[in-house]
Amino acid sequence: MHNGGMKPQNDSKVAGTDETGEIIDTLGRPMHDLRISVLDQCNFRCPYCMPAAKYHSEYEFLKKQQRLTYDEIMRVATAASELGVSKIRLTGGEPLLDRNIAKLVQKLALLPDLTDLALTTNGMLLAPVAADLAAAGLHRVTVSLDSLDEAVFHTMSGGRGELGTVLDGISAAEDAGLGPVKINAVVQKGINDHTVLDLLAHFRGTRTIVRLIEFMDVGNRNGWRMDQVVPSRELLAAVSARWPVEAVGKNYPGEVARRYKYQDGAGEIGFISSVTEPFCGDCSRARLSADGKLYTCLFASQGTDLRASLRNGADDREIRDILSRTWLRRSDRYSELRRPGPVEHHVLRKVEMYRMGG
Ligand code: GTP
Ligand code: 5AD
Ligand code: SF4
Ligand code: SF4
Repeated sequence: MHNGGMKPQNDSKVAGTDETGEIIDTLGRPMHDLRISVLDQCNFRCPYCMPAAKYHSEYEFLKKQQRLTYDEIMRVATAASELGVSKIRLTGGEPLLDRNIAKLVQKLALLPDLTDLALTTNGMLLAPVAADLAAAGLHRVTVSLDSLDEAVFHTMSGGRGELGTVLDGISAAEDAGLGPVKINAVVQKGINDHTVLDLLAHFRGTRTIVRLIEFMDVGNRNGWRMDQVVPSRELLAAVSARWPVEAVGKNYPGEVARRYKYQDGAGEIGFISSVTEPFCGDCSRARLSADGKLYTCLFASQGTDLRASLRNGADDREIRDILSRTWLRRSDRYSELRRPGPVEHHVLRKVEMYRMGG
């Protein structure tokens, strides 16, 4: 296990504050990252996330008044920042469907002590707004792109994506100073695994970092099966057989991707192996959904309702207290507790990923 594994249950650390005064959860993990989902809608229908049959034209997404306003998001982000969060990522659904998002970026960028401000997008709407986002203070973007094969890309975006437009978006982001761009590719056996090496080949020799993600059992609607997961170790073997690679250390504690660089100097790739090599041990991520729930795990079945507090007159101190109480109670380590097998993941009613923010 690349992160040294889970801290044992009898670890001497207890929830409270650590030696630096940061709040830590029951497993000794600080809150360093906040992932903010700005809306639950998306212009794609990736079958592993929002299968088109379930997310059809009648499906009811959140209404505007149900979503947090930018001011409400800022109140939560400010409280989180005071509690130690220094990395913020905007997600969705597809965050660029929110036409005003640069205004939110501008506000977030003013938070003191922010070391990283990123956004995850499917890239379709990126090219025209990349320069505005950079000017607003966004540091970088991550683009979801599962394959460069037209037919496979068509299937994996639910028939909604245009490959050329996404590639233009990636170039525009690099040109705007939002690089190095990271590419997230979810790998599904029998769907796109045969196109992975072509994807890597395309970005070799550029600054762009491709990360191969194991298909995860997030939510309950994507028909996840263990036999559709391609273990990262298999992908690593296939990659190494074509281009020798060597492991590189983490950029920061709690980094999700295991990093490798090509020995010939053609750049970096990453593996995100949540299923076969879980990384809960140093997971420092909190998630804020578009309707104002705070989740302490990607696989959570419930969250803490901050919207009610925000709209019922809670002051900044109370919001900070709710955040810190929620974090102090946190004991999530879903991926480490998951048993590979057909039953368990359906037993829980997990919140869907597009809702919570990837
Ligand atoms: P960097 O800040 O660039 O290192 O990015 P990141 O690793 O936070 O990347 P990103 O937000 O792009 O996440 C990549 C993918 O990793 C997500 O889409 C998820 O599939 C998965 N992932 C991210 N965070 C978690 C997590 O806390 N738990 C699990 N199980 N998977 C996660
Ligand atoms: N398994 C792995 N990754 C997923 N994503 C969405 N659904 C899944 C899943 N079931 C990833 C997408 C995107 C990010 C927001 O989450 O690739 O990059
Ligand atoms: Fe949309 Fe991203 Fe989900 Fe695909 S993975 S449907 S692009 S939110
Ligand atoms: Fe963190 Fe939950 Fe993912 Fe584990 S499963 S890494 S606790 S979000």
